[in-house]
Amino acid sequence: MRARARWTRMSSAPVAAPRPLLQPADSGRKRAELMVAESATVLLRFHFLERELVRMAAGWLPGTEDWDTKLFLPEMLWQDALVARSLRERILELRYPERRIAPDAEAPLIAIYASFIHAPSDLAFVTALARAIKPHVRQSFARHLARADTLGDAPSVHFLEHAITDLDRQIARLNAIADAHAARRPELTPAADRWTAGVAAALAALPPDMFSRPELPALAAFDVAAAGGMPFAISRTGVRDRRFHRLRFAWPDRHTPQPPGEGVQLQVRQAIHHLNEVWAAEMAGACLYDLLEQAPHDFLDDASRWCFDEIRHCRMGYERLKEWGFGESEMPLDAFSYDSGADADAIVRLGVIFYFETTYIHTKPERAKIFGREGDRMSSHDMDFDWADELIHSHYGKKWLAYFLEKAGTPRQPAEIKKLAEQGVIVLQQGATETDKAATQAVFDRLMAKARGRVGAAA
Ligand SMILES: [Fe+2]
Ligand SMILES: [Fe+2]
Repeated sequence: MRARARWTRMSSAPVAAPRPLLQPADSGRKRAELMVAESATVLLRFHFLERELVRMAAGWLPGTEDWDTKLFLPEMLWQDALVARSLRERILELRYPERRIAPDAEAPLIAIYASFIHAPSDLAFVTALARAIKPHVRQSFARHLARADTLGDAPSVHFLEHAITDLDRQIARLNAIADAHAARRPELTPAADRWTAGVAAALAALPPDMFSRPELPALAAFDVAAAGGMPFAISRTGVRDRRFHRLRFAWPDRHTPQPPGEGVQLQVRQAIHHLNEVWAAEMAGACLYDLLEQAPHDFLDDASRWCFDEIRHCRMGYERLKEWGFGESEMPLDAFSYDSGADADAIVRLGVIFYFETTYIHTKPERAKIFGREGDRMSSHDMDFDWADELIHSHYGKKWLAYFLEKAGTPRQPAEIKKLAEQGVIVLQQGATETDKAATQAVFDRLMAKARGRVGAAA
């Protein structure tokens, strides 16, 4: 309790000097501007803001149609989660031994940021991030850095400078993604522009020194409806970009168990399966979105990393297919694995991803060896790194399933949840109609004919 009193009481409020004392020469930089308590307050607000940004991006992931957005959101949210983690750890240091980090009085500020999730489309969400939200975060970090002491508060300065570098890259990527998306879908742009203007106006209305005030000023709530927003609900089905070949099952072994094949077939099969790991990124994102509020702080670290890893696996397949000469319209994308959790509760959804992780993990090192032996260094490399990630993921799955089950006070065991998840997946697989199977077979035949043609042409 004594320590808590220390950080709540000390401040840099001017006091009358009882006698003349040594003062620093005017170097143009006031090193002693912020005391520990004030610095910790700023970082606490930044922490909750970053955490909210991670949650919003995770929530938007499954319902996002635009492929470039779908690939970037997990990378961005993982970077934001790293910043949130650095902020959290630094707040704990500055307030040691106080361990509690809670939004409390910061709730009105967090609520404003949280309301930016209600964008009318994925294009609007990304455009507002690119042109209003992320620039505001950058400006707020830079403003704090201009006042923070590079000596006394060097650890905070270090990660905030890195965060600004990430933000600059994010803003550039988000702008490029928004421009390309708007060019393809001009019908979405009026609502996206209106939304972005509304978000920018709300942020511009916030007092610039708000983060460093001892108490937050009264903040007006963001008028979502006036900016053309729509009440957000996370999509329980995985939305797929219309540029791809969308179908219920992307490969024959996704509806009917069968050997994976050999040679070129195994190469293509593995790339298609990697590409379709987009569902796993969505499921990790959905678990993050659904369970964050009831989880301890390190859930954010694990779930964001999980989400990013799965989209990297997806990108591995996407990159290999492009390198082999396939265009998006030739690449089959399904969503049944994500969709199998649509009617389940959040813990069972976590079980779905855990079920896939643990059921197929043994194939990764095997395939890395096969591809390496047969001279496909790229596929071997991707399987090797995929396997390294999956070993961490099975730990995440075990750890968090056990945690949430215990917290829910249910006698259900992780193995039971895994069984439920498996049943949900099997029901969808068994629901494959003859039409679905024929569609999958047609894609398979086309892809394999082209792949074998390319190998023949190169021979
Ligand atoms: Fe994966
Ligand atoms: Fe995984």
